[in-house]
Amino acid sequence: MTEIEARIQAILDRFDVSSDQDALDPDSLECSITKDENFPLNCVINADNLHAMKRIPDDSVHAIITDIPYGISAEDWDVLHNNTNSALRGSSPAQQKAGRVFKSRGKPINGWSEADRAIPREYQNWCATWAGEWLRILKPGGSAIVFAGRRFMHRCVCALEDAGFSTRDILAWERPRAVYRAQRLSIVFERRGDSRNAARFFDWRVGNLRPTFEPVLWFVKPYKIGTTIADNMLNHGVGAYNEKGFSRYASQCENVLQIGMEPGEGGLHPTQKPVRLMQALIALVTDESHLVLDPFAGSGSTLVAAKNLNRNYLGIEADSHYAEIAKKRLAPDLFSTQC
Ligand SMILES: C[S@@+](CC[C@H](N)C(=O)[O-])C[C@H]1O[C@@H](n2cnc3c(N)ncnc32)[C@H](O)[C@@H]1O
Repeated sequence: MTEIEARIQAILDRFDVSSDQDALDPDSLECSITKDENFPLNCVINADNLHAMKRIPDDSVHAIITDIPYGISAEDWDVLHNNTNSALRGSSPAQQKAGRVFKSRGKPINGWSEADRAIPREYQNWCATWAGEWLRILKPGGSAIVFAGRRFMHRCVCALEDAGFSTRDILAWERPRAVYRAQRLSIVFERRGDSRNAARFFDWRVGNLRPTFEPVLWFVKPYKIGTTIADNMLNHGVGAYNEKGFSRYASQCENVLQIGMEPGEGGLHPTQKPVRLMQALIALVTDESHLVLDPFAGSGSTLVAAKNLNRNYLGIEADSHYAEIAKKRLAPDLFSTQC
């Protein structure tokens, strides 16, 4: 075993990652290890981030840029509550008979039971489980930029503020495509054979307006009381934002972002984000060689963006399938024979 392999093995042991999780393979991941900090860089770790983040030293990360589960039960990894009602996510016998449509729709927003109504609070409790770790590992003045869902984003804001973060802004990402699913109320009455009410309610729909934007929450770890943001920039390199870096991606320095996927970019993850969008956010709050962490890495869009901009990166992803996709995106040449 070479010296570098021994050090990586030591880190694997510290992360308690079993060999079948295939994390931190030095040959395939271009993993490097900081000399002074002894933790991995430029890797995707296939693990639960709560567990993995415990090994990251205090005040060591320049920015956390991530797309967290929105808690709307859209996928299995997005179920972050204790509601075991079988109607949720379309698993009741009646819904299974009705087909896939219920699976993705979940349940009405106002909820059918007390357990449904507890979901937002349970989502906040879930955010609180990792918010304190984020505060610990970020450098003072470091940003946490978080994609969150419109329905529960305020719960994420409360959890991060309670942990000690300041909210700097809420940006909007305008999605180039958004499916409009609101059902006409008249269809319900037509099915009931009630043509009078079908006509009366023809203009009424059930559900949401077309969801054309997603909120992007921008938090900052407060810098030390008694110092200034200028001092903090000198000491830690973060706290202010880079107008020129950001404006390479957005024509104006404004908080509505209109940056879509490049042709052929999508299809790797159900909630995949455009690499150029992630580059804009990374360029906004970090400098070259800074460390960007994505603890909910998915298919690795943030990590690819960080690599493109010569930042160091660390990704953590619990699902081995997506962790593998992220690794391949980060080291395409090494995997070209398998792809
Ligand atoms: C919203 S998706 C991120 C998608 C990503 N933006 C992309 O472009 O591919 C969130 C990801 O977090 C992962 N995840 C959920 N809980 C996790 C945990 N505790 N630790 C690590 N990853 C987790 C899920 O498997 C999912 O792939």
